[in-house]
Amino acid sequence: MRLKTIRDIDVKNKVILMRADYNVPLDEEQKITSDLRIVTSLPTLQYLLDNGAKKIVIISHLGRPEGEDEKLSLHPVAERLGQLIKEKVGFAPLPKSPLVNQERVVLLENLRFDAGEEQNSEEFIKNIIDQVAPDFYVQDGFAVIHRAHASTDAVAKFLPVYAGLLIENEVEKLSQVTEDPEHPFVVVIGGSKVEDKQPLIDKFLTSADKIIVGGKIAADGYEAKSDKIYVAEDFDENLAGEKLDIGPLATVKIAEVLKDAKTVVWNGLLGKAEDPAYATASTVVAEILGETKGINSVICGGDTTGFVMELLKGHAGLNYSLISTGGGAALEFLLGQDLPGLDAISK
Ligand code: 3PG
Repeated sequence: MRLKTIRDIDVKNKVILMRADYNVPLDEEQKITSDLRIVTSLPTLQYLLDNGAKKIVIISHLGRPEGEDEKLSLHPVAERLGQLIKEKVGFAPLPKSPLVNQERVVLLENLRFDAGEEQNSEEFIKNIIDQVAPDFYVQDGFAVIHRAHASTDAVAKFLPVYAGLLIENEVEKLSQVTEDPEHPFVVVIGGSKVEDKQPLIDKFLTSADKIIVGGKIAADGYEAKSDKIYVAEDFDENLAGEKLDIGPLATVKIAEVLKDAKTVVWNGLLGKAEDPAYATASTVVAEILGETKGINSVICGGDTTGFVMELLKGHAGLNYSLISTGGGAALEFLLGQDLPGLDAISK
C-alpha cells in the first residue's frame, strides 16, 4: 500500500492540522503513565518543524468521555509534548473563533468532548478547519484509523490528507508481515479472549509456519485445529490451582521455535504478566525477540506492547521492528479489514 505522506509535499510556511492519537493512560492524578503515543508522534512533528511549517495544530481524543470531563483533558499531554520538543506547546479549547495562540505547535482539547467527533460530523470538523485555516491535514493517529470519526473520515471531504511518519512506518511494517513475511514465520498468540484471537489465528493459518497459543486461552483448553498450531501444554499454577502462566516445558519449546524464526508477530501475553511471578514466559519471548538479530518482530495489542515497553526500561539493548501504537487498529489492519482513516489518506 503506497500512501501519500508528508514527504510528498512542501510543508514550508504551511499551516497544518494534524491528527495524533494521544489516547494515553493516566493515573488518578491525571499523570501520564506511558508516553509511547506522544514519543512516537515526534518524528512527524520534528519533520514538519525542521522543514519550515508555519504552524501545527494537533487534534486528538483521550478516553471515551460523554461530554466535557476535565479528568480527560489533553492538557497534561500538551505539557509532556512541550518537554519533549523543547518548546512551549500552546493549548486551546475546541475553537469557536479563529485560534489566537502564538505558539508554533498548539494542541486542541479532547475532540470527544463534542459528540460530533464520534458521530463523524462534517459540521464539527468543518468548524475546526474554519477556525484553524490549515493548508492540509496530516493523519498520524495510527491507533484510531479503524474508527469512522470526524477527524479520521469526514475531514477528507474538506482537506487533502497526508500520512504522517508514524502511520507510514506502522503501515509498512504491518504490510510486510501480512503480504510478504520472511520464513520461518511464527505468530505468537496469548491473552484471554478466544473470540478476539481466533480471527488472527485463522488469518495466519496459511501464511505462518507455526502459530503458538499461550495465555488464558491455552489455559482454558484451546483446541488446535491444525498441526501448525502449538498450544502450551503445561502451566504454572497458584495455590488455588489457577493456571496463571505457561509452564517450563512449553516455554522451552516456544523458545526453540522462536530462535529460528525470521518473522514473528506477537499479540497477547502468555501469562498474567502484570504479576512478576507469572511473567516468565512473556519475558522469555520478549527477550528472544529483542535480542536475536535478524528477526523481524512485530509486537501488537495494548497489554503486550505495554509489557514490552516496561521491560525496555530496564533493558535498553532490546530491539523490535515494530511496537505498534495501535491496539484495535493494528488487529484490524492485520485482519485486512477496511480502515476508514487509511481510506481517507490521499493515494
Ligand atoms: C485506542 O486506544 O485503541 C485508540 O485510541 C482508539 O480508542 P477507542 O477504542 O476509544 O476508539
